[in-house]
Amino acid sequence: MSGVRPGGPAKCGARVRHPFIEGTSLTRRQTVACAEVLMSPSYLPSLVLREYLHTVATLHPQLREVLDFERPGAAAALAELAATVSEFDTDSTGRGDSYRRAQRDTLVRWTGMRQLLELAAPAGSEPVTLILDVLGGDGTVARAASSQSACFESKLAFITGDLSGHMVDKALAHGLPAVRQAAHFLFLRDASLDAVLLAYGTHHIPARQRPLAVGEAARVVRPGGRIVLHDFDESSPMAGFFAEVVHSHASGGHDYQHFSRAELASLFAQADLPVRIVDLYDPLIVRADTAQSACARIRDYVGDMYGVREFFATLSDDEVWRLLTHHFDHTGYLAALGGRDGIPARPVVYRADGQFVAEVPRMAIVAVATRAA
Ligand SMILES: C[S@@+](CC[C@H](N)C(=O)[O-])C[C@H]1O[C@@H](n2cnc3c(N)ncnc32)[C@H](O)[C@@H]1O
Repeated sequence: MSGVRPGGPAKCGARVRHPFIEGTSLTRRQTVACAEVLMSPSYLPSLVLREYLHTVATLHPQLREVLDFERPGAAAALAELAATVSEFDTDSTGRGDSYRRAQRDTLVRWTGMRQLLELAAPAGSEPVTLILDVLGGDGTVARAASSQSACFESKLAFITGDLSGHMVDKALAHGLPAVRQAAHFLFLRDASLDAVLLAYGTHHIPARQRPLAVGEAARVVRPGGRIVLHDFDESSPMAGFFAEVVHSHASGGHDYQHFSRAELASLFAQADLPVRIVDLYDPLIVRADTAQSACARIRDYVGDMYGVREFFATLSDDEVWRLLTHHFDHTGYLAALGGRDGIPARPVVYRADGQFVAEVPRMAIVAVATRAA
């Protein structure tokens, strides 16, 4: 992809002809705002908006068809994006590079991803289900699903969204249709998708924007389509791990509020969507030739994904495993749910199919809603 072009607003006459404002009648002020946004160097690190739209029209026409940068409020939303620096951009701004390094292995979280996708595209769905992954990063879920496509009855197609331009750049570089947008303001047409997934980071959406994010999901999903929202319960071991380990040791901290079942119910009630809330087993699983290397792979995955690799480097491998065993101990949490068969309560290493498997349990809460047909 090309480098950042020097921007500067286009000359604004009575009418500006650009791909996304052509044919619309805009006030002069709107026209100037749109032209500035089109030429702004900051839609993605590698592309101004006009170049992005051209790229998408060429490589991902199905995405281009559903993009809507003309919505009322779009210019302000683009300006907000341009001013946003995300902890997921790079390691200088937080943990972007190391997070993406961890996601080269897309299947560590496959057990949970697969269940989420089955909730988004239940058996009997359309032959192709178009899913928006709102907090999609560099397309981990889309990449994992494409390598496991035989698992699904419906063919899954993804649009990867993300707040971070760096994430979207990387998703596009993976050949995925991707759009930079915030969960609370989507540049997508009404009823243009079969399903919307908000997962793996939903707690990063500030509490005040969560009703807007669910409202946006409800707007862009077609009647009969699914909305699936995944996060961790405030009372879960995972929320404790974030608070006690990640917040204390990651360079950017981790000061985010997770979810409660009551909050999920209320968010969907506000959007007028009947919802069911399910408990979902969403472990980290890696395989290796020895028990020691399986534990080391988990150490590196957790270290990179949560930005605590440097902290882990101050500990021995046994100490890291003991720390994980302590923080990911789900004994009490599972008991409070009334028990769950077949789920290890604590991190374990075992042999399967001639390999060593390290499995770190995580329990998530997931809201599932269907837009009224
Ligand atoms: C934990 S990562 C998950 C990425 C990917 N889904 C995965 O599982 O690897 C969370 C992602 O959410 C994005 N994000 C955070 N707040 C967001 C918001 N308000 N709207 C859209 N994306 C957001 C971040 O930039 C980051 O890429």
